[in-house]
Amino acid sequence: MTARTPWQVWHEPYADEASPLSRRLRLAQQHIAAWLDQRSAERLTVVSACAGQGHDLIGVLASRPDVQRVRGTLLEYDPGNVAAARTAADQAGLTKIVIRRADAGQLSSYAGAVPADLVLMVGVFGNISDADVERTVAALPQLCAESATVIWTRARRDPDLTPALRDWLRDAGFVEHAFHAPDDVQFSVGVHRLDSPPQPLDPTGTIFTFLR
Ligand SMILES: C[S@@+](CC[C@H](N)C(=O)[O-])C[C@H]1O[C@@H](n2cnc3c(N)ncnc32)[C@H](O)[C@@H]1O
Repeated sequence: MTARTPWQVWHEPYADEASPLSRRLRLAQQHIAAWLDQRSAERLTVVSACAGQGHDLIGVLASRPDVQRVRGTLLEYDPGNVAAARTAADQAGLTKIVIRRADAGQLSSYAGAVPADLVLMVGVFGNISDADVERTVAALPQLCAESATVIWTRARRDPDLTPALRDWLRDAGFVEHAFHAPDDVQFSVGVHRLDSPPQPLDPTGTIFTFLR
């Protein structure tokens, strides 16, 4: 048996419904479901960066009667997590969800997957440098369709980057729709909507490098 990688083990707290990670997941899922409820289009596109095992998007779509409206691409680098996400998507019958083994820090990895109506940056901003967070936020309009929603997370460990992050999102043309920062945990979940024109994807750049 192959040893599990740290990024596979990282998903273990999802098995405990009371864990902070599970609480964060439920918030992300609530916002994904609310986004679906609010959007009446017959075709919607989702991209998830560093999607892990896909618990957030797959977990919501698995119980939606309108799942055929959604075409999605999950970008994930760890082969074991890619396999787990593929198994989950297959078991849920999600034929329009593609799991792509790719480096989500390279804009070229998003070719064909964007512009997206929903961009998931869940579990990304806490694992890259502050400069890369700023660079990625500035590049988000390249991943977005008109009026796209971005759901993102970031731990508020000292020094808390979220005030700057929310400023960068505003500077990039986004309006804040929700920001959850519960007192008893470190995580935060933000929901922003693009309120300026999307930008075409320039597939040549690097937006982030994972620190571990
Ligand atoms: C903190 S976890 C978040 C997973 C998922 N979004 C979630 O919240 O459940 C980060 C994930 O990013 C993946 N990852 C690390 N570097 C990556 C890269 N350059 N491109 C794509 N995925 C990457 C890891 O394998 C891991 O599954």
